[in-house]
Formats: sequence, C-alpha cells, structure tokens
Amino acid sequence: MHTVAVLSLKGGVGKTTVALGIASAALRRGVRALVGDLDPQGNATASLDPPMTESTLADVLETPRLAVINEALAPSAWSDSLDVLVGSEELELLNEPGPESRRMDNLARALDELRAAREDDPYELAILDCPPSLGRLTRSALMAADTALLVTEPTMYAVAGAERALEAIETVREEQNPRLRPAGVLVNKLRARSYEHQYRIAELRESFGRLVMPTAIPDRLAIQQAQGACTPIHEWKSPGAQEIALTFNMVLAKILRSSRAGRHRLDHTESGELETAEQAPDYPGSGPGQNETTSQFPAIRQYAEPETG
Ligand SMILES: Nc1ncnc2c1ncn2[C@@H]1O[C@H](COP(=O)(O)OP(=O)(O)OP(=O)(O)O)[C@@H](O)[C@H]1O
Ligand SMILES: [Mg+2]
Repeated sequence: MHTVAVLSLKGGVGKTTVALGIASAALRRGVRALVGDLDPQGNATASLDPPMTESTLADVLETPRLAVINEALAPSAWSDSLDVLVGSEELELLNEPGPESRRMDNLARALDELRAAREDDPYELAILDCPPSLGRLTRSALMAADTALLVTEPTMYAVAGAERALEAIETVREEQNPRLRPAGVLVNKLRARSYEHQYRIAELRESFGRLVMPTAIPDRLAIQQAQGACTPIHEWKSPGAQEIALTFNMVLAKILRSSRAGRHRLDHTESGELETAEQAPDYPGSGPGQNETTSQFPAIRQYAEPETG
C-alpha cells in the first residue's frame, strides 16, 4: 500500500478536492484505495458520504488497534471499492501541541496494522487529506506517508508556502520517516488566461524545478458541482469535468510511478538518501533550463535538481 499525504500550509487551496480527485481516478482505474480524513472539518468524509461508523480517525489516533480501525472504516457512497477512514471534529483536540509526542506515530502504526490485516484484499493506495496547517495532524500524516503532495494556488504566497511545507517534509524525513519523499507541487485553481497566474507558475518552476507537477488543475465550476452532488469528478459529464478528470489521471499515475520508484530506490540505497521519487517531465512548452531551480534552500535544491549520473 502506497500512502500519499495531501497537504498545504494554507486553507482552501484544494487539498480535499485533490484528495477526492485522486480517489476518483483510482476508482476509474480499478486501484483499490482508501481516503483517510485527517481534517476536523470532515469535508472529505462529507463528500464521500460513508454510512455512520462506531469510531472515527480520532479514536484510531488514540488507539491504533485493528478493532478500532475497522470501526472507523466504511465504504464510500461512491463505490464499495473506495473506503473512508472517517474524520470527525474530535480530531481538532489532537492537533494542539502537547507533551505526549508518542501519539504522533499512531497513524503510521494504524496503517501498518491495516496493511498486515488485509493481505487478502490489500489497498493499493491510501490518500490522506490533511487539515490546513503543519500541525500535529499533518505531521502524523507525514510520518505515515511514503510521498507528500503539496497543493498550492498560483498566488503571491505560493512559493514561500511550498518552501515551508517542503522544509517540514524534510524535517520529518530526517527525524522520523526516512522513506518520505515529495510527490510534487500541484497547482490548483489555475486560470490559464491570467497573466498573474502564469507569472506565479513560472516563479514556482524557477524555485522548485521538476517538483512542480507537469499539469495544473484549472479553476472550473464543474469541481464544485460534482462535489455538491457527492459525485466523483470522473462521472460528471461536462467538458470541464472531463479535462479535470484527465489531469487527476496523470496525478494518480505519477504517484503510482513514484511508489514504484521509491520501492526501487529503497531497495538500492542504504539510508534512503534525499532524492525525489521520480523525475517529472516539464510543463508543455517549457524551455531549456526550466527544470533548474534557483531556490536558496538546500533541501529544495536537492529535491528539485535533475539527477546526475
Ligand atoms: N480547481 C477548482 N476549480 C473550482 N473550484 C475549486 C477548485 N479547487 C477547489 N475548489 C473549490 O474551492 C473550495 C476549497 O477547496 P477544498 O475544500 O478542496 O480546499 P482545502 O484546501 O481542502 O480547504 P481546507 O484547507 O479548508 O481543508 C471548495 O469549495 C472547492 O469546491
Ligand atoms: Mg480540506
């Protein structure tokens, strides 16, 4: 089971939309998947609309035992092939800083339990929808994840926000979870005709090079319509929805490829040295040198620079 954490520093940039879009692509492709809703707002749970459960992810984070996990797990209304580890408001209590750091790895333990218990019907992908902060809940997602997907809007603070998020990933990788890799920076709510958005994307690419996903998600009403109808974007029949569905197919494919690349690298390196999971192609139309980064942050340079040798 590959675990991807979907995160951002800012609220409202589209983490839940991206988590659901990847889940929708997984469903379409026949990839058995699980969405873990770590956000006390519970938006992913509301959209996936599972039946009432006896426990929630808040209980799992307190007691990461299989019995509790099974009580917090339910099939989504989208399909029996897509399950939800349901979120709840009580998660907020676990997001506050506290002395008891032992709970931080409880999500990782819970997912290990799940992996071991479901050898006959394994999940191929677990998608963790994080709350809008780099607090304890997001950090526990990073401790449990194989890759981390950063979501950003093409706005003025995007570069600074992505830098801070990548630094957080790097800290967790160094201190707690050596297998963690950035899956990429995914730009959401792009208005292709906006000069400002084009400028911000160029800025992101200059800072993060190939870490910036080759395709951005456009700003489309279809996303809100599909969410409002609790329907996977792949089933929403409008040209706008179909374009977005294709983009999520690409994002899913990249995550699954990085999963394989990650396994390969961990097999062949002794300490999981700092490497991005996969080399992404450029944005269409990007010129020579666009894959290079001028970031002043060493961690980001290591992720973003093309591999040599
Ligand atoms: N590409 C898009 N086009 C149009 N609307 C979008 C797009 N992406 C997200 N939205 C809308 O923006 C709002 C915020 O999106 P979403 O809930 O996914 O963000 P979030 O980062 O998960 O928010 P939070 O930080 O509160 O969890 C929602 O109403 C969603 O429907
Ligand atoms: Mg959200």
